[in-house]
Amino acid sequence: MVQKAIVLVGGFGTRLRPLSCTRPKALFPVANVPLLERVVRALAEGGVEEVVLAVSYQADLIEAKLGGGEKFSIRIKYSREKHPLGTAGPLWYARDELRDSGPFFMLNGDIIAEVDYKKLLEFHQEKGGMASIALHEVEDPSRYGVVDLDSSKRILKFVEKPPEDEAPSNLINAGCYALNPEVIDMVPEGKKTSIEREIFPKIAEKGKLFGFKSDSIWIDLGLPGDYLCANRTMLERECKKASSSVKIDSTAKIGKNTKIRGPTIIGANCIIGENCDIGPYVAIGEDTVIGDGVNLEDTVIFPRSAIKNFSSIAYAILGEGVVIGQWVKIQGSPEEGQVVILGDCCEVTDKLTVTAGTSVCPFKCLKECVLTPQRIL
Ligand code: GDD
Ligand code: MG
Repeated sequence: MVQKAIVLVGGFGTRLRPLSCTRPKALFPVANVPLLERVVRALAEGGVEEVVLAVSYQADLIEAKLGGGEKFSIRIKYSREKHPLGTAGPLWYARDELRDSGPFFMLNGDIIAEVDYKKLLEFHQEKGGMASIALHEVEDPSRYGVVDLDSSKRILKFVEKPPEDEAPSNLINAGCYALNPEVIDMVPEGKKTSIEREIFPKIAEKGKLFGFKSDSIWIDLGLPGDYLCANRTMLERECKKASSSVKIDSTAKIGKNTKIRGPTIIGANCIIGENCDIGPYVAIGEDTVIGDGVNLEDTVIFPRSAIKNFSSIAYAILGEGVVIGQWVKIQGSPEEGQVVILGDCCEVTDKLTVTAGTSVCPFKCLKECVLTPQRIL
């Protein structure tokens, strides 16, 4: 039997605006590789042969990027949703693809995780339930689905986003499940349904919901600070894999006396000037041009941006095609989780300062300093 999976990538990524205005969160680069590409590769490595991508918002961009999956040794199919039907509706839309298989995987597409899919499936079959959820332990579970697990790994209760003092434990839904096809029959036809609020609690009541604890890497890309954290983690991983503290594409050019501190990744065709200080924790997307004397730290730069001489940027996310003038200072605050976000094709003119917590909409040109955090439309 073909091992299948469905990945939910139809959300709007509202908490990552304005970057998600012009691309789905699934295509955000994490250490220079689109998030969804990482998810699909991990599924292929975990023995999955066919994956259905449940798409709606900006579906064309996703399909253009991942195609039929040839590059990843997996078959990719697309379930295009006319109306977004929440986190369970995609099962109804893709019912004909999934019903004929045995247990299949379902994943939230906005997570970086290293779940052992083979072990999750074994666990699911051994427990004999209808659904098994990968669980991850966190300090504050209130932003997630939270479970009450007994010693036999049965989930007694599933509560989505409980108030802080009402969470039954610190074990949360990691957004990765093994499901029997019969779960599809629980999803009402064509109606917006939440798997977390409407389906899992019912399966728990039947005593057929199980929890598989996983203590490997798990990062949810909900907020801008989480996104930078995911980049830091994957930069560390990738540089370690390459047995070097920095990963510089062979086509990139680096100027004299420029110091690059790892973990940092520099993409194809980048040109970096002289006397720069770059890193740690910097990901520079392909075709980016950086002038002389530039300082960068804890920052993600999407492809095709330009940063002119003597500018300095920390704890920021720069969208695609952003242009930063000379002597600009962009300073986010990691202590307060206040990122600076510049949407695609923004421009910041020379000598400006942009303060922590500011976000700027795509195509906007900043001509004055931003000294109090704000959203610039
Ligand atoms: N295809 C499709 N259609 N996908 C959707 C839709 C839809 O109508 N609505 C949401 N999604 C996708 C999102 O793109 C995301 O990948 C996934 O479903 C989960 O939705 P989010 O909106 O990101 O939910 P959340 O982050 O608040 O909570 C979920 O994830 C947590 C882990 O990060 C829940 O599953 C929680 O229980 C879980 O702990
Ligand atoms: Mg999410």
